[in-house]
Amino acid sequence: MTEALRIGIAGLGTVGASVARVLVEKAAELTRQCGRPITVTAVSARDRGKDRGVDLGDIAWFDDPVELARSNGIDVFVELMGGDEGAPREAVKAALEAGRHVVTANKALLAKHGVALAEIAEKKGVLLNYEAAVAGGIPVIKTMREAMAGNSVSRVFGILNGTCNYILTRMEAEGLTFEACLKDAQRLGYAEADPTFDIEGNDTAHKLSILTSLAFGTRIAANDIYLEGISNITQADIRAASDLGYRIKLLGVAQRTESGIEQRVHPTMVPTASVIAQVHGVTNAVAIETDILGELLLSGPGAGGNATASAVVGDIADIAKSRPGFQHGPVFGRPAKELKPYKKAQMRSHAGGYFIRLTVHDRVGVFAAVARRMADNDISLESIVQHAAGANGDDKKTVILVTHETTEAAVRKAVDGVTKDGHLVDKPQVIRIERAG
Ligand code: NAP
Ligand code: HSE
Repeated sequence: MTEALRIGIAGLGTVGASVARVLVEKAAELTRQCGRPITVTAVSARDRGKDRGVDLGDIAWFDDPVELARSNGIDVFVELMGGDEGAPREAVKAALEAGRHVVTANKALLAKHGVALAEIAEKKGVLLNYEAAVAGGIPVIKTMREAMAGNSVSRVFGILNGTCNYILTRMEAEGLTFEACLKDAQRLGYAEADPTFDIEGNDTAHKLSILTSLAFGTRIAANDIYLEGISNITQADIRAASDLGYRIKLLGVAQRTESGIEQRVHPTMVPTASVIAQVHGVTNAVAIETDILGELLLSGPGAGGNATASAVVGDIADIAKSRPGFQHGPVFGRPAKELKPYKKAQMRSHAGGYFIRLTVHDRVGVFAAVARRMADNDISLESIVQHAAGANGDDKKTVILVTHETTEAAVRKAVDGVTKDGHLVDKPQVIRIERAG
């Protein structure tokens, strides 16, 4: 039997403890599949006394994950701590520089330092695997990097955050509050240590930036993503969307346009009949449109210990199966040094349909004034509906507009105009509509 592959795991939280458990429970099966045993030889976390729900027996403990990363007692360093600076960054860098393969689920780290870390991995001839960093258990990295060679991608988009999709699904299906749904997502181990990363869209942006690099061969540009989260989405939006035949999803979208690559993360209305609208709960989905393949849709569990562990263990198994001296493929599909600079398409040029919900004073002429602002900006309306005042008889009405295809610049100008006219009682709500199959 070939020598065991020795694993060091830094981080024993939701994901790390699940990975350790799967490696122990599935040891025999993994040995058969990989042709050699995979053994956890060392671990690191902050609190040595915490019960991890898995027997860590004689496994070496390191208080310092960077020391573990450099240890001669491991072949693969598995980073499952989270965070884009400090210990995770230093440990991953140290492991690669010491010639260890690295597996990580840390999209925040890759979004910020992925290209620099890939350069080290490629120089050292070791693997930097990160399947779990995007869309949890869905094998989207392998699919884009390996199975779609030769394809030219025109658009990649999807539901990339399990926490947000779980919240939106339960708000719609059960009429629950945003806060109650978020609490459950945290309890179930879906949310990030700081859940604002989920609900404000940063986590989706981190994942999207990685997909953009794979899709278009560009350097990762997470800071150039237009970003809106879901914390402003109300039951009123969800109900209005449903009445109009739409469902609201937090999407990450990257697409090639004439002026550059558009990267955006925002709540989006998708037709209720579309496949992506049927993706519920913690499930994620990624749609990839290419010249050769056409449209591919991958869907599956997007967060949680087991789903994420599945992807991490898959990455470890790939390393166990790789032959010594074999030249590994580049981390982001093209050699890191050859990734092109990212050319950003301006958000104001974005073209699409829009849902606009306005809460206005209940006065004569307001409806006409809103319609005039739209016309003045060449916005053609698919529908405009005014709802009667609420049961409490207050001086408010809701005007809901759905536009035909127009531009972001036109919508912003029109809504600014309505605001200046002094008709609004509340902040206007604008939600983009996405073409989805
Ligand atoms: P978590 O439950 O908060 O666990 C983090 C672990 O890292 C804990 O065990 C913690 O130790 C340890 N840790 C933190 N800082 C450390 C340090 N300086 N030194 C040593 N150990 C340290 O997080 P998680 O949900 O497992 O997520 C881990 C990573 O996977 C993150 O990058 C996350 O974005 C990514 N991810 C998570 C999911 C998911 O569904 N949860 C899915 C995909 C990707 P203590 O336990 O002792 O405090
Ligand atoms: N917090 C992330 C999510 C974990 O909810 O999707 C998976 O990356």
